Amino acid sequence: MMNHQFNDSKYLELIFKGLHEKYGVDFSLYRESTIKRRLARRMAATDSDNYLDYFYTLEKEPGEYENLLRTLTIKVSRFFRNQHLFQTLYDDIFPDIINAKIINNDNTLRIWGAGCAFGEEIYSVTITLLEYLKKKRKSIDDYDISIFGTDIDGQALNKAKLGIYDKDAVKDVKKEILDKYFIRRGDLFQLIDSIKNLVYFTRDDLTSEKHISPSSGVITNYDLILCRNTLIYFSQALQQRVFLNFIRSLNPGGYLVLGKSESIPGDLKDYFILTHIKDKIYKFRDRGAVVSG
Ligand SMILES: C[S@@+](CC[C@H](N)C(=O)[O-])C[C@H]1O[C@@H](n2cnc3c(N)ncnc32)[C@H](O)[C@@H]1O
Repeated sequence: MMNHQFNDSKYLELIFKGLHEKYGVDFSLYRESTIKRRLARRMAATDSDNYLDYFYTLEKEPGEYENLLRTLTIKVSRFFRNQHLFQTLYDDIFPDIINAKIINNDNTLRIWGAGCAFGEEIYSVTITLLEYLKKKRKSIDDYDISIFGTDIDGQALNKAKLGIYDKDAVKDVKKEILDKYFIRRGDLFQLIDSIKNLVYFTRDDLTSEKHISPSSGVITNYDLILCRNTLIYFSQALQQRVFLNFIRSLNPGGYLVLGKSESIPGDLKDYFILTHIKDKIYKFRDRGAVVSG
């Protein structure tokens, strides 16, 4: 029995190795309990009794690695998820960012949605920004705007680029916003092109040691980064790596938004001020701001 378990954990390592080779992601660094629970779902779905059986299924069945990746990176999201946050972006965060831009005579505006799933969240941020600019009688043409949505799952990004959603995805969208920014096609809702064209989607592994933000070239200098409900799956060591990347990527005075059950690791807290507890919004001081001891 002991021997069998030992061998079986070897197959778990081989499964991680296969995922790493295919997608460049080291899931062995993710939170073990979460990963094992999700693996168990695919094992049940493929009638695999243990990791050895499942490893052979992965090797035999084309498409099973993709199924596993999908299951390991569950994409629960919707437009304006946690509506309060988007109201806070409109009422407090965008005014603060834009005022600082005016003071610094800077017309760039850079936003990154990390772990963006099918795009619901980063599109919601974009709509909120447009609504705010409209209230200020400004237009996006007054700014040099870059908005990125990144995820590890390329298929999810393809869907994000299409911008077509079912009614569950838009159930929190106010009617006037739905009418203004979506075209109804039967049971589906299609985002209008002027919103889609503002967001640049690119595949990006947050845990990669190699880069510091979306790999599409323009790195750093973000005014706002959202990374919600993604870090909960990472081990503490991995989270540390990701937060260090965010610290390198944010403008001084820029904002970081986390999910409800996520927070900044203790030793990096001094880089940030928690400005909105309920919405988990942190304002970045600057890279030299850490108080030691
Ligand atoms: C639950 S969804 C969060 C969606 C959105 N941020 C929200 O809160 O509504 C988590 C997303 O993180 C992505 N993800 C998981 N590991 C990742 C990694 N290493 N790099 C980038 N994205 C990752 C998953 O593919 C998934 O789309």
